[in-house]
Amino acid sequence: MNSIDSLLHEDRRFPPTPEFAASAVAGPELAEAAAADRLQFWADQSRELLHWHRPFTQTLDWTQAPFAKWFADGQLNVAYNCLDRHVLAGNGDRVAIHWEGEPGDTRTITYAELTAEVKKAANLLASLGIRRGDRVAIYLPMIPEAVISMLAIARIGAVHSVVFGGFSADSLRSRIDDAEAKLVITADGGWRKGKVFPLKKTVDQAVTETSVEHVLVVRRGENEVDWTEGRDLWWHEEIATMDAEHEAEAFDAENPLFILYTSGTTGKPKGILHTSGGYLTQTAYTHKNVFDLHPETDVYWCTADIGWVTGHSYVVYGPLANGATQVLYEGTPEFPEPGRWWQLVEKYKVSIFYTAPTAIRSFMKQGRQIPQASDLSSIRVLGSVGEPINPEAWIWYRDIIGGGTAPIVDTWWQTETGAIMISPLPGLTATKPGSAQVALPGISIDVLDDDGAAVEKGQGGLLVVTEPWPSMLRGIWGDPERFIETYWEKFDKPGARRRMYFAGDGARKDEDGDIWLLGRVDDVMNVSGHRLSTAEIESALVSHPFVAEAAVVGAADETTGQAVVAFVIVKASQADVATADEASSILRAHVAEQIGAIARPRQVYVVNELPKTRSGKIMRRLLRDVAEGREIGDTTTLADTTVMQIITDKLK
Ligand code: WT7
Repeated sequence: MNSIDSLLHEDRRFPPTPEFAASAVAGPELAEAAAADRLQFWADQSRELLHWHRPFTQTLDWTQAPFAKWFADGQLNVAYNCLDRHVLAGNGDRVAIHWEGEPGDTRTITYAELTAEVKKAANLLASLGIRRGDRVAIYLPMIPEAVISMLAIARIGAVHSVVFGGFSADSLRSRIDDAEAKLVITADGGWRKGKVFPLKKTVDQAVTETSVEHVLVVRRGENEVDWTEGRDLWWHEEIATMDAEHEAEAFDAENPLFILYTSGTTGKPKGILHTSGGYLTQTAYTHKNVFDLHPETDVYWCTADIGWVTGHSYVVYGPLANGATQVLYEGTPEFPEPGRWWQLVEKYKVSIFYTAPTAIRSFMKQGRQIPQASDLSSIRVLGSVGEPINPEAWIWYRDIIGGGTAPIVDTWWQTETGAIMISPLPGLTATKPGSAQVALPGISIDVLDDDGAAVEKGQGGLLVVTEPWPSMLRGIWGDPERFIETYWEKFDKPGARRRMYFAGDGARKDEDGDIWLLGRVDDVMNVSGHRLSTAEIESALVSHPFVAEAAVVGAADETTGQAVVAFVIVKASQADVATADEASSILRAHVAEQIGAIARPRQVYVVNELPKTRSGKIMRRLLRDVAEGREIGDTTTLADTTVMQIITDKLK
């Protein structure tokens, strides 16, 4: 039923209702203004959405392409834009954050309170010697101190590097080393599925012999922790002594705001660098227009963890720049009962809800009775991000969560793009299930063939951004060469007029010119909406004494979109140490320990050979066929064409 359904539904259109369109934030004038003068459009947006301590006169400097400068002679303070100015405008009593802890404890934090907390935290950071440009690592659960820390770092012009709390000590250490962080902000532990998971312990392992001078510890889990005198400090003790006054200093628009590590095709994660003025302009612009934000009345909830870019742009910077009221939740969707998220929607009367397809699909599996036990009638806009959303899930989302009326904005973007690039506008676009559809006003994208020519309507190709945009990454931390190679060389043909950004995604343009995302074209998997590199997991596998060689592929998975499937050759000397089943479970745990649970392979197959070309490249395409239970494709370029037969026989 479902596949027929999706075929039929591909032609379905869901135009906004006349009532929605009538009070929509974004109207046709946005696209008209952007088409008339793109740079003027961005300058106007930036002046309207942000407070500039020193107004800019230049919009874009692209003379050092692909290193862009936006609003370069302007100065602003990012935290002031997210906090003080709302208080000064008389909105200090507006709730910024309805926080809900997993055990059910809550905190309601107004803009005035959040501003005061951030000021104290800024004074604390300064007292620890943190200055403009210094890097601070954050390794925290989803508690208000995570938001407060990010804003306090921004407020003093320092640079945060948030590391997802599910990452291992090794992953944390390599990120600390790469950014040469001076301080780590963490918690004793956080709540997950009814248990406290230790964070401080992981930090203790990660920071020895690094650049880290202090570890600031928020008390949350109340679990026991080891303490290094002189290095470790309790957040609550330090904060209590801090002045609640702190004047926000203005920094250059291009002052670095954060580094966020993301997977690439080689093993080493890339530190994606974002700066201040352009980033805040586009996160505020997209958050307001894509989600149709009415800050006086809406309650917004983005379920992403602050460890991912979605948490940076659409939990912290976009919503707070716009003075939104939002829900922040510490725990997992289904604890202590499967309907927890929907109970929170009812409790806080959430009107704008933004999540990932993997979550939607797991709720679909559990059945509609779970969300239907809660009153979801407050929801009026739904968002999706992280991977393509299949039409069945799209329709279910609209019908069951959106009451059959809420428009869905399927938002395409990346850690590198900083903010949403392709999405319907909910009061304007007739939405199509499964398509992200149109570049936002001010954004220029295209789909190209391998030679760099635009494909015809109805054709597929490679997605590119053809003009610089305000929230674009400014580089890879410490590695300008890799930045150019990875994103800007693919279509850098002699004589080409402009530099184009290659996103690594395949896409199709339909007959209307709307964009359908087709997934990654490189060796990067998308597991539950998060990018993982095959190379990184392979290197974790070969770091185990059992393993001689490893190959990892992403295989289609009903819930997570893709799942990690590994093929390993066990060293001859280790062959008798464990059975294949034992080796497989040890290696799954090993990867989780090395990188984090998100990277744990769904399966590890022990094989005798891996399929390779004559030049020695592993043919992942064939392994993907095995992992997805398909007939094996063309094997003629294999060095040894019998290998696939041997592998499939062995796995039967
Ligand atoms: C990759 C970026 C953007 C925040 C979350 C992930 C995929 C993202 C969509 C979408 C189809 C999507 C792409 C992209 N992706 N959104 N709406 N439709 N695919 O950030 O970890 O930087 O991953 O996620 O493949 O390249 P990220």
